[in-house]
Amino acid sequence: MERIMNNIILTGDRPTGNLHLGHYVGSLKTRIELQNKNGYDEYYIMIADTQALTDNANNVDKVKNNIIQVAIDYISAGIDPNKVTIFIQSQVPELFEITAYFMNLVSVSRLQRNPTIKDEIKQRGFEKSLPIGFLNYPVSQAADILAFNANIIPVGEDQMPVIEVTKEIAHSFNNTYGQVFREVKGLLPENKICARLPGLDGKLKMSKSAGNAIYLCDDEKTVREKIMSAYTDPNHIKVSDPGQIEGNIVFAYLDAFCKDEHFEKYLPEYKNLDELKAHYKRGGLGDVKVKLFLNNIINELLTPIRAKRKELEENVDKVYDILFEGGKKARASAQKMLKKIKEAELVAFCDIIPERAEKAAKEYGGEGAKVYTDYKEMLADTGIQIDVVHVCTPNVAHCPITVAAFEAGKHV
Ligand code: TRP
Repeated sequence: MERIMNNIILTGDRPTGNLHLGHYVGSLKTRIELQNKNGYDEYYIMIADTQALTDNANNVDKVKNNIIQVAIDYISAGIDPNKVTIFIQSQVPELFEITAYFMNLVSVSRLQRNPTIKDEIKQRGFEKSLPIGFLNYPVSQAADILAFNANIIPVGEDQMPVIEVTKEIAHSFNNTYGQVFREVKGLLPENKICARLPGLDGKLKMSKSAGNAIYLCDDEKTVREKIMSAYTDPNHIKVSDPGQIEGNIVFAYLDAFCKDEHFEKYLPEYKNLDELKAHYKRGGLGDVKVKLFLNNIINELLTPIRAKRKELEENVDKVYDILFEGGKKARASAQKMLKKIKEAELVAFCDIIPERAEKAAKEYGGEGAKVYTDYKEMLADTGIQIDVVHVCTPNVAHCPITVAAFEAGKHV
């Protein structure tokens, strides 16, 4: 198998509900394929609970309860915790510290102009009162990605503009403080319909909030009922009427899920989807027959997922163990990157403002103050024990050298 070195995959979901078929074809399937191809060095999947709170501040229980649900969905759909580090975002507090640094590199208007954020603000009715945390979630998402030095991000189409923010932040950071981050690439499913699976109503994309979804955890009866209610062609009244494929949700789902083998198994009178579509267009093929065919395909997909889910639900402690172990591993990686970020910023400060540092040092430390432009040298010289200092703005008062000396109670 081909092994491409140094690929780090990271992706995630907000735990606001169970995962549905839109998640499955839009991202989960690609994630499982990537996992099984072994073309990566590290692979993380994040349950983005803190991000979920950005539009669920009053729904904490929903977010909390869905963490385990989403974890069960992942594993039952085929994510293997031995290959993939699954973790909860809030268990890696370094992400929020990194977010604070990144927030200085993006403007409010840039975020407000982002097409995904714009849509989401409208959908949530946030036009009048926009939580800062919500507007900031793409910045926090950049931290989610860059904290792990991830370069491959499998996502659905709507997340692509959000990934753009990550790219911009990485470039801006590299330009300002020196090369720390590499290029990030969003990975979309190849099949167009999969990148944005429509909901059962045929109006919006499949989503929990639109109430038009088939969930991975739906039982057989529910799935059948939902498929039977799916929007088709309203003018296809009699079986003999010619039918329209465009906008017909059942055919959209067949485009996303159907393979030639399914015909052999469930509908042998046709060879493939093209033949089925041609018959529908000509007239003489009823919706029920097509829907039952789709139902068979979806059930074939969901039956093993349901069985695995049942097994995990009887052993929830094991799932929590997986998440906590994943959290520890993820945290160790993020800590390393945070250190690099701080070092890059600190060095840049010393390079940019030595004269100002001198002035500030004299102000605080008196005429005899000595200025170091290399903090390592300063630490060695003075024996001061400090962690890298938090630096927010290129402001004399925050000059790392003076602050370091001040915090340690010494004048240098
Ligand atoms: N915004 C993503 C969603 O709504 C979830 C997410 C959070 C994410 N952090 C991420 C996706 C990092 C990819 C990479 O589904």
